[in-house]
Amino acid sequence: MKRYVTGIKPTGNAHIGNYFGAIKPAIEFSEQEGVESFYFMADYHALTTIKSGEELREHTYEIACTWLACGLNPDKVVMYRQSDIPEVFELFTIINNVTPKGLMNRAHAYKAIVEKNAEQGINIDDGVNMGLYSYPVLMAADIFMVDADYVPVGLDQKQHIEIARDIATYFNNRYGNVLKTPDEYIDKQFAVLEGLDGRKMSKSYNNTIGLFLPENQLKKTINRIVTDSSLPTDPKPLDCTVNKLYKLFATAEEQEAFDAKLTAGIGWGDAKKELFEVANRYISPMRAKYDYYMSHRDEVDKILEDGAKKARVYAREVIQKVRKAIGVK
Ligand code: ADP
Ligand code: TRP
Repeated sequence: MKRYVTGIKPTGNAHIGNYFGAIKPAIEFSEQEGVESFYFMADYHALTTIKSGEELREHTYEIACTWLACGLNPDKVVMYRQSDIPEVFELFTIINNVTPKGLMNRAHAYKAIVEKNAEQGINIDDGVNMGLYSYPVLMAADIFMVDADYVPVGLDQKQHIEIARDIATYFNNRYGNVLKTPDEYIDKQFAVLEGLDGRKMSKSYNNTIGLFLPENQLKKTINRIVTDSSLPTDPKPLDCTVNKLYKLFATAEEQEAFDAKLTAGIGWGDAKKELFEVANRYISPMRAKYDYYMSHRDEVDKILEDGAKKARVYAREVIQKVRKAIGVK
């Protein structure tokens, strides 16, 4: 049995790019034999971006409900809130003492801000708080806490796992072999979904299709997909955004039939209507589950509390070993 842990930052509603690129593969992965998974809401990490209590609380529920609605099975995956594991914050404080400041100076997110500030001729640390600066240390604590072997992440998080590995090594060199050195697990790259304007679908480009938009809004959003001004009778390219999205939701026969229609010529309005239909059919059962969980938060709380109980069994074990090693017990 190999243990996998990953954190999900509750910073906004999921879009269909997140679903096909991260959520669906992670759930499928968790269902394999020999895999023990810990997926948690990294609410303390979100503090670097979310500055309102109400918003953070709401986003945390949204993310938890999204994963449950998409099929995450809480009996198979330990699902919890980072903030429910106090040992994480104790471990964070401890490992700060073996983490060289220079290592943090090289972390991508911090370095990017410093470089931007330098370019603009302002103080290099402008807008940087200690939460952002020590973000990778908190992440390392999350990982060590459950004695994880692997951390499934996207490429953008690879450096953070390398930092965690360094921190574990520094700690172990000083105190003996206490912390497990984790490896990143970078799954084969999933196709990058296009957004409404043909660029990568991303919150930062404001071109997303929300995963659980109500039906009428889903339809409206699909209608906003940017298309050319060709006539309905003109053939449409098979690699257009509408068709790429259609393929994600449709059966093989439907895909073939849609290709034929595009090639023969179809109005964009009609093509988008067909896309809406297959997308809505695919999403509807998940949306119903999402709406159910969002209005039954006590059930979600219970799932997260049960998860935290399970995770804390490991967390307590790790923190006891660590306390003993550093001499506070
Ligand atoms: P965003 O770019 O909207 O801020 P995030 O960076 O929060 O999205 O991504 C969360 C997860 O979803 C990551 O694992 C990322 O690889 C995946 N993801 C995001 N956008 C896409 C996309 N357009 N296509 C495929 N996967 C995506
Ligand atoms: N930093 C990660 C992200 O932005 C989220 C995260 C927090 C995480 N703690 C973690 C990922 C521990 C893996 C392991 O996506």
